[in-house]
Amino acid sequence: MPSIMENLKKNFLPAELSQTKKAIPSFLFVCRPGFEKTLLREIQSGLQNARTPVKPQSINRADLGLVCLTELDPDQRALLEKTDFVFERQRLAPASSLEIESLKTVARKIIHDHFPIIDPSPLPWTLHAFTPDVDEFKSLRKRVKNIEKVVLEQLKKRFGKMYRRYAPPATLGPDDPFMVAQFCMDRADHVYVSIATKTPRIHPYPGGEQRMKFDPESPSRSYLKICEAAARLPRPPSDGETAVDLGAAPGGWTHYLLKQGCRVTAVDRGEVRIKNLDRLPGSLTVQQTDGMTFAPQNGEPSFDWLCCDMLRPPSQTLELLLNWIDKKWTRNFIVIFKLPQNNPVDFVEELKASLDARDLEFYSVKQLYHNREEITACGRV
Ligand SMILES: C[S@@+](CC[C@H](N)C(=O)[O-])C[C@H]1O[C@@H](n2cnc3c(N)ncnc32)[C@H](O)[C@@H]1O
Repeated sequence: MPSIMENLKKNFLPAELSQTKKAIPSFLFVCRPGFEKTLLREIQSGLQNARTPVKPQSINRADLGLVCLTELDPDQRALLEKTDFVFERQRLAPASSLEIESLKTVARKIIHDHFPIIDPSPLPWTLHAFTPDVDEFKSLRKRVKNIEKVVLEQLKKRFGKMYRRYAPPATLGPDDPFMVAQFCMDRADHVYVSIATKTPRIHPYPGGEQRMKFDPESPSRSYLKICEAAARLPRPPSDGETAVDLGAAPGGWTHYLLKQGCRVTAVDRGEVRIKNLDRLPGSLTVQQTDGMTFAPQNGEPSFDWLCCDMLRPPSQTLELLLNWIDKKWTRNFIVIFKLPQNNPVDFVEELKASLDARDLEFYSVKQLYHNREEITACGRV
């Protein structure tokens, strides 16, 4: 009986397509639209020890949230593989560039050129089909979803064994081993395709867009930011733990912490407005005072969680976080840093260096999907 690979080669792809020359795959990063230059600067800084610097002409359009690195040497690739960048949402590595003639042809070409990697593996696999996260691409979303649909239909019809190992996005556990096929469509006639084994640097949601569900009871949309940060933690705030929420008004974060069952101290000069407090499992104390100088009183135990979303310059927030860590006033932290207008990458490096210098159990710094001109630092002391 012919193997799936032979079947793919002989019967599946029209001869003229199977003879097209393969381009050298590139390395595609997805970030928040508008942050392409920042991400590229972060990558260049991260690769400064590589033998050759990354070329700067890697952004096609500076508003799509895509940074495509081409002509990388093995040394640069190896460094990229092991580095997690703060401003990256998702990565496609290696990413191949594919012109689209018709949906059927491109689906066949994708299966022929890329799925032989998945075929011999015993691992389950998933498929992320997405476009840049900008409004003008809404119409393209349907088109890339159609490619996904045709690919899945073709696999079901012809390669049942491979198809049966398919699992929809985000249904596999973050620590499960699996493979990820990604299609990122950046023009009606062009798509980037990548298939790779899942690494911690590949986000489980298509395009790295982990959209959290808003709770209409929450007094602010900032609620989404803490939900996303907590969803990425090995252990989110939980029942009976103490949490201080600095810059709490109007109360989105406090609302989340109360829902988790925490005993919350909400600190803000503004008003914290929590609806239906008696229906939430946690308990609340409000302190209308300055969050920059707030501290546990002498003899009080430290907090389980420092949560901070204060509108302060990043250098002040950093000083505050380091003070809380050094004085052991908290066990865990979730802290938002508003980005400086100039040189955000320099600030990120200073932040990471300060956290590296402390003996933390773990920490992460990331521009999350629900972050705008800001980043989130989480960690455990
Ligand atoms: C982005 S809002 C916080 C939103 C909040 N996390 C929520 O979920 O509703 C920033 C807050 O920081 C507060 N803030 C800024 N400087 C502060 C300070 N020195 N002390 C206390 N609060 C401060 C502001 O009053 C404002 O309510």
